[in-house]
Amino acid sequence: MKALRIHKFGHPSHAVLEELIPPTAGLDQVVVRMEAASVNPLDLKMLAGDLQLVFPVSFPYTLGTDFAGVVEAVGTSVVKFRPGDRVVGRCEPSAGGAFAQATAAPVTSLCRIPADMSFEQAAALPTAAGSAWLALFGVGQLVRGQRVLIHAAAGGVGSFAVQLAKQVGAHVVATASSKNHGLVKELGADEVIDYRQEDFSARVKDIDLVIDTMGGDTLQRSWQVLKPDGAVASLVDHTVEPRGNAKGSFVFFKHDATVLERIIQRFEARQLQVILDTIHPLDDARAALEQVANGHARGKVIVRAAR
Ligand SMILES: NC(=O)c1ccc[n+]([C@@H]2O[C@H](COP(=O)([O-])OP(=O)(O)OC[C@H]3O[C@@H](n4cnc5c(N)ncnc54)[C@H](OP(=O)(O)O)[C@@H]3O)[C@@H](O)[C@H]2O)c1
Repeated sequence: MKALRIHKFGHPSHAVLEELIPPTAGLDQVVVRMEAASVNPLDLKMLAGDLQLVFPVSFPYTLGTDFAGVVEAVGTSVVKFRPGDRVVGRCEPSAGGAFAQATAAPVTSLCRIPADMSFEQAAALPTAAGSAWLALFGVGQLVRGQRVLIHAAAGGVGSFAVQLAKQVGAHVVATASSKNHGLVKELGADEVIDYRQEDFSARVKDIDLVIDTMGGDTLQRSWQVLKPDGAVASLVDHTVEPRGNAKGSFVFFKHDATVLERIIQRFEARQLQVILDTIHPLDDARAALEQVANGHARGKVIVRAAR
């Protein structure tokens, strides 16, 4: 089978497509024939070696975490899935393995895909929608009637966060470049600010929760828009701390299949759209990585497994 691997840390150009022996299923594992995988900025951080302290890897390392496909084989202690099942799941970042024609995943990481969900839509969910959920409802404790500011609302995490926040009955303020304002409004944002044209901190106020997907100067200015007892949930700055009565927390995503199931239920109930940007073949997966590295993906960038 083909797999996109690295033998040293670096850039997308260091990733090479190699021929490997397909995996076999351990006791509590499922071998999934890959149909689609999604690209997350996490994959680029793993590729660059930026996360060695948190998610150590050894070489050669197969890139990719989020995948969807068809169960090919199950380990002897697996009863929940059988060959032929359509599933979505997530590889542990240290293990990697999603940008390949097959992967062996722990059974606990998998969920079934409903009939009306494509593999591309399913693969888009685990990290991006799961992190949006955790930031809003786990770390952020967002409830009806609160005001939330979501940065990078047209991106992977942001496009899910806007929809989930709106559904809970929050007032959603979002940042995006002007080309994405129509999309972000359609997803449910009440107000959208073009971060290229306007300083959001001069316009927005009385925010209960900021979802920070940018860090740096965006994070610093975000403190100015909070209510005194508001909160910042940062997905990028692990050094964030409370300031006065305002809370500041880092969001550290851990995959939880029960949360992913709830997200899938929202899709089935037609309450959640999955915004897909470009779909690249596995043979051209480097281009998918480069697209995400450019920082302007609209929803999710997908890698489609080649046959
Ligand atoms: N801590 C965790 O567990 C965790 C989990 C998930 C994600 N993350 C991190 O969260 C960040 C976002 O992830 P993602 O998957 O959403 O990334 P993404 O999909 O690559 O984000 C792309 C989006 O960012 C927008 N953008 C770029 N610069 C912007 C700015 N200055 N202000 C507002 N929007 C801007 C772009 O919109 P325009 O094209 O309109 O400019 C684009 O739609 C990444 O750093 C990722 O690693 C962390």
